[in-house]
Amino acid sequence: MNILVLGGGGREHAIAWKIKQSAQCEALYVAPGNAGTAQIAENISLEVTDFHTIGEHCISKSIDLLIVGPEDPLVKGIKDHFSASPDLCHIGVIGPDAAAAQLEGSKDFCKRFMQKYEIPTAAYKTFALDTLTEGEAFLDTLSPPYVLKADGLAAGKGVLILHNLDEAKTELRHMLEGKFGAASTRVVIEEYLDGQEFSVFALTDGKHYCLLPVAKDYKRIGEGDKGLNTGGMGAVSPVPFVDQALMQKVEERIVKPTISGIAAEGMDYKGFVFFGLTHVSGEPYVIEYNVRMGDPETEVVMPRIKSDLLILLKAASEGRLNEVSLEKDTRYATTVMAVSGGYPEKYEKGKHISGLEEVKDALVFHAGTKEADGRVLSNGGRVLACTAYGETRQEALERSYAALAEVTFEGMYYRKDIGFDLGEEKS
Ligand code: AMP
Ligand code: GLY
Repeated sequence: MNILVLGGGGREHAIAWKIKQSAQCEALYVAPGNAGTAQIAENISLEVTDFHTIGEHCISKSIDLLIVGPEDPLVKGIKDHFSASPDLCHIGVIGPDAAAAQLEGSKDFCKRFMQKYEIPTAAYKTFALDTLTEGEAFLDTLSPPYVLKADGLAAGKGVLILHNLDEAKTELRHMLEGKFGAASTRVVIEEYLDGQEFSVFALTDGKHYCLLPVAKDYKRIGEGDKGLNTGGMGAVSPVPFVDQALMQKVEERIVKPTISGIAAEGMDYKGFVFFGLTHVSGEPYVIEYNVRMGDPETEVVMPRIKSDLLILLKAASEGRLNEVSLEKDTRYATTVMAVSGGYPEKYEKGKHISGLEEVKDALVFHAGTKEADGRVLSNGGRVLACTAYGETRQEALERSYAALAEVTFEGMYYRKDIGFDLGEEKS
């Protein structure tokens, strides 16, 4: 099979790395890719929302399966574009159509879906500028902290958690007046859930599903999970507090009703479902859905899939996921992200990365890199994800950190505490 992976981050490098291991993979392309994907696949330079150009490459390279990494092309309807085109409709697309992608693209849509299918989530109400007064009155009924969410995609910045009522009311007004542009013309206000977060992933064909390894990511820039939110600074899999009892509740109360809801709504969904979950005293709730894999979770989830991913994806794209099963690697996997100095605020790109060839016992997934004159340069806020395996989480973490100690670029920063909050392993 000829495969095109769409995207250019660590997630796409990890997916391409896994696909490359399949005996069924004949040709592998990543668009736009990065310096890491260039080592295992052919990069194609294009914009991930330029559907016309993507389609042209799919035809000229005889692509059989398109794996969509990021949410933007999905919310903008890449699946619908392929389905509606006579030259492209034979190509399998991993990712939902635009209607289903609203599960990520609209918080209000997502909350209504969960309410309809009785999936546990925080209580909420949605407001627009003409219902600002009602929104303020709703805030009066809640206790702090207050959670305000821009309805639409806001580059991961659209959720505000405020500790003071007046501040929450002011922010509500700012949001409805356009703080996040069109994304915050509607705002979801919801109850705060004080729990421990984790990420569950399913692959679905719209009717059946299989669960991928569970992961936990670390979102804040600073150690102790302090400071600004980032795209993700590291991840671990498995997650010790997600035991069998919790997973059973997740599957019965969340995964199954979500997949049957997708089927009942007639959504065209052949792809990954990312359940952003929290548990409060062992009871799981959905914080959000994403219609794609997580980043950096993918950098630990892919290494823990033992089965041939391409066989699974092909089955999903053909609606026969019930015929295959997913086998997990029992080892632990951890990843720690090296980022550019200043990220997630202002940072510089184009720094020379040295020491990559010295890394042993680890997988370096490139997140934001490019190649120039035979050298690897930083090309984003998140630069490299250093993933390692271990018989314990501690062993995996030691190897991730040993790998990071070999690599340098000007301004490089990484958190030193990924995974350490989870305690010692029970043996
Ligand atoms: P979201 O984009 O919906 O995932 O929200 C971003 C982050 O805000 C989540 O990862 C949580 O840490 C936090 N968050 C969102 N909703 C809630 C909630 N209802 N209660 C507590 N924290 C939340
Ligand atoms: N790691 C969280 C995300 O990909 O949205």
